[in-house]
Amino acid sequence: WATSAHTHEDFLQCLSLHSPNSNSISKVIYTPYNSSYQSILESEIRLERLLPPAPIPKSPLVIITPLVESHIQAAIYCSKKHGMQIRVRSGGHDYEGLSYLSYQGPFVMVDLVNFQSINIDVENSTAWVQAGATIGQLYYTIAKKSPTLGFSAGVCPTVGVGGHFSGGGYGMMSRNYGIAVDNIIDARLIDVNGRILDRKSMGEDLFWAIRGGGGASFGVIIAWHIKLVQVPKIVTVFTVNRTLEQNATKIVHKWQYIAEKIDEKLLLRIFPGKANSSQDGKETVQASFVTLYLGGVDTLLPLMQQSFPELGLVRSDCIEMSWIDSILYFAGVSGEPLEILLNRSSLVTYSGSYFKGKSDYVTEPISEAGLESIWRMVLKYPEDIDMQFSPYGGRLSEISESATPFPHRAGTLFSIHYGVSWTEAGKSALNRNMRAIRRFYSFMTPYVTKNPRSAYLNYRDLDLGVNNKGNFTSYEQASIWGLKYYGINFKRLAHVKTKVDPGNFFRNEQSIPTL
Ligand code: FDA
Repeated sequence: WATSAHTHEDFLQCLSLHSPNSNSISKVIYTPYNSSYQSILESEIRLERLLPPAPIPKSPLVIITPLVESHIQAAIYCSKKHGMQIRVRSGGHDYEGLSYLSYQGPFVMVDLVNFQSINIDVENSTAWVQAGATIGQLYYTIAKKSPTLGFSAGVCPTVGVGGHFSGGGYGMMSRNYGIAVDNIIDARLIDVNGRILDRKSMGEDLFWAIRGGGGASFGVIIAWHIKLVQVPKIVTVFTVNRTLEQNATKIVHKWQYIAEKIDEKLLLRIFPGKANSSQDGKETVQASFVTLYLGGVDTLLPLMQQSFPELGLVRSDCIEMSWIDSILYFAGVSGEPLEILLNRSSLVTYSGSYFKGKSDYVTEPISEAGLESIWRMVLKYPEDIDMQFSPYGGRLSEISESATPFPHRAGTLFSIHYGVSWTEAGKSALNRNMRAIRRFYSFMTPYVTKNPRSAYLNYRDLDLGVNNKGNFTSYEQASIWGLKYYGINFKRLAHVKTKVDPGNFFRNEQSIPTL
């Protein structure tokens, strides 16, 4: 970044001056001249696509790993004073790396890796969880305190609660308990003026905005107060695979009619993708039905028989286990000690490879002919486009579209996640894979929501549009992606933004604009 050494020095001096304990802040400031700067920057980067020698994004001028809240207050004050933007990182899983990279202007990164404490109140079924904790740490800590409490949030244990909760938080219990934001009862946040606020002092508008509108546009979230949910002592999981030769098209077609309506204790997710046929070894499409049922197999089997006999589920497909073991199962690490959930880096599914993701929503079932043409598209090109069909309905559709900024409620049948990952470094592999996922996304246009073509904020996609130079943009321009992520809630988000951060200090490539 073109900032003078002078500005840099002034900024560092400002931090020391404005931190009550200047000694301690100096220990948590890293500039590119520090030998540990690069390892700290890369420690929570989940997207090698964005690591050097990636062409465009730039790294932070300064990294701060605050130990106390006053360090964050100093970072906000000094960044504002010296014209720097700020990026906050909790778990580092942002799909476009916006928590640690920027395409626009010099910035400081606040890494909340030291804010990981979790306090469970079993009696009241609540917990305070600091933003830098991961959902794996949260699930583990809850399970250690009680076998019948849990929380409804995402599947990958290394996701950070700071970003994940502020963007929604869909997981295997969402049909029964909603997403993470539906179970947040309070929060602590530092605003643009360095004030530490809770729900009461921030007011209901701001508290509404950070539950699905993305935290990064509004302040630095330090901790969430969450309502834990009841989980049965025994849950049932299964993964059943069906290829085209095993009638996958008809089964997936039927799934669209039942998955959103079926008992909300049951969440049947589909992962369609390329596979080799077990019959002749030829390339085919396989739909993997990955399921959590909040109960035992004896009640699951009649339910499936009644609503979805086409899948042909049998008792031997099903495994009964505790809820916390189901977390390991869906993370692909069944049988490992529970402590693996405390590991912040070992469980990332695409670690070591390059990745790009996108998302869609479906409100009208796709016809069998439509599904067949999607499968043809899956098989047509060499790049593997992975899809996830995640059912909605149940509790998700009981909550109104405007109760939180996350608008994907009644009427949504399922969401689609697209991902492409590759291991080959270099521009040509990057271009080839980016082209492949964009082509696939374009092909899907007739099958998904229109006007707007909705998308899930937590699967951030800069292809949908970005702010102008310096990350300032009009409401109209930002509506191009804002309406996709937030639907009818976008306007209110812009109003809240204008009220709480009129100077647009908390901004990034896709932040909410002021009006
Ligand atoms: P990160 O630290 O990168 O932050 C993401 C965004 O939030 C950035 O804009 C950042 O600045 C901002 N932010 C972070 N902490 C903040 C804070 N304390 N205050 C203010 N702003 C803050 N989603 C889902 O719903 N269900 C799932 O099952 C999964 N699974 C999944 C698996 C894998 C491997 C990945 C990479 C991602 C997912 N996701 C997901 C998506 C995930 O929910 C999304 O990427 C979250 O934003 C990640 O939050 P982190 O804190 O980890 O990211």
